[in-house]
Amino acid sequence: MSVQQIPIGKIIDGEEVIAVELINSKGTYVKIFNYGTIINKFVVKNANGEMQDIVLGFDTFEEYLNPDYLANYPYFGAIVGRYANRIKNGRFTIGEESYQLAQNAGTDTLHGGVEGFDRKVWDIVEVGDGEQSFVTFQYESVDGEENFPGNLIVDLTFELTENDELILSYEAETDKATAVNLTHHSYFNLAPNGGNIKNHKQQIFGANYLEQDDNYSVTGKLIPVEGTPWDFTKPKAIGHNWNEDEGYDQTFVLDKIYGDLSLASKTIEEESGLVLSVYTTEPVAHLYTAKYLEVKNGKGGKDYDSYGAFCVETQHHPNAVNIPEFPSTILGPDDLYTQTTIYKISLNR
Ligand code: BGC
Repeated sequence: MSVQQIPIGKIIDGEEVIAVELINSKGTYVKIFNYGTIINKFVVKNANGEMQDIVLGFDTFEEYLNPDYLANYPYFGAIVGRYANRIKNGRFTIGEESYQLAQNAGTDTLHGGVEGFDRKVWDIVEVGDGEQSFVTFQYESVDGEENFPGNLIVDLTFELTENDELILSYEAETDKATAVNLTHHSYFNLAPNGGNIKNHKQQIFGANYLEQDDNYSVTGKLIPVEGTPWDFTKPKAIGHNWNEDEGYDQTFVLDKIYGDLSLASKTIEEESGLVLSVYTTEPVAHLYTAKYLEVKNGKGGKDYDSYGAFCVETQHHPNAVNIPEFPSTILGPDDLYTQTTIYKISLNR
């Protein structure tokens, strides 16, 4: 097990950008930038004995700052916060106070506003390369940032185990009641040469999905997946009965006891023999099959197109801050926000 810290030679907002590599004794490694806690590489051995990178991104850090990339920005591999997915009309109320956020997705707020946690340089507060290979990043989001109330301190630890599990453990505390809903936005492709993910086999352990309005904002209504194209309760090819013009951009309510760590989703790719299992303490998983992906010159000079990856974003229900029936996403000054999500890699042969 080892951890390496590699300076990138770049200073943003007075902070140095560092890449941290976590490596286990099988040779599996993960490279994470302290900028946006971006997972730049996740390299595993596939069933053919080849080392394979399973996440989309760029060869160099600089390319993540490229204006062309940011113009149609997909949040490659980054944390999303303070509030994942959409908040209807960018508005919410806590007690007597109402808050208006930037409306950066039509009239709604997407992924924390104009400049979310994905574009911040995080402090590296701890690394471990003994028995455990881990790094803890910390970011302090000040009261009023993106119009959210309260100084919020967020810790995110990435740990790589000998069993090829990448464990993301989040903690957050605030000094004033605020809205918090965090997730991580890696784009996975398990095929050895990438390409359209429609033949990846997908299973999601959720019997209901959340209804969305025309701007993909959650309305509050649960819809049973049974008999619909959203039924992934048994494994099926992602593209088996999808709408070819939309793919999936939908939130699934996981069948679980609230707060328990449970299996949310499992994805298998036949050619590589790779299996990605996602475990989480969160109540929902958002499946996004990257309809809007259009990135030139990704890793190895590859272009990435629509449906060239899938994201499994574990989180609380989107827009829960406006839907009292959903589990609360309000964090009070006496509360501790915690979340654990595990990406586990295994082989199917
Ligand atoms: C959202 C999509 C959005 C994408 C990139 C996903 O989490 O659900 O609607 O296009 O992120 O911003």
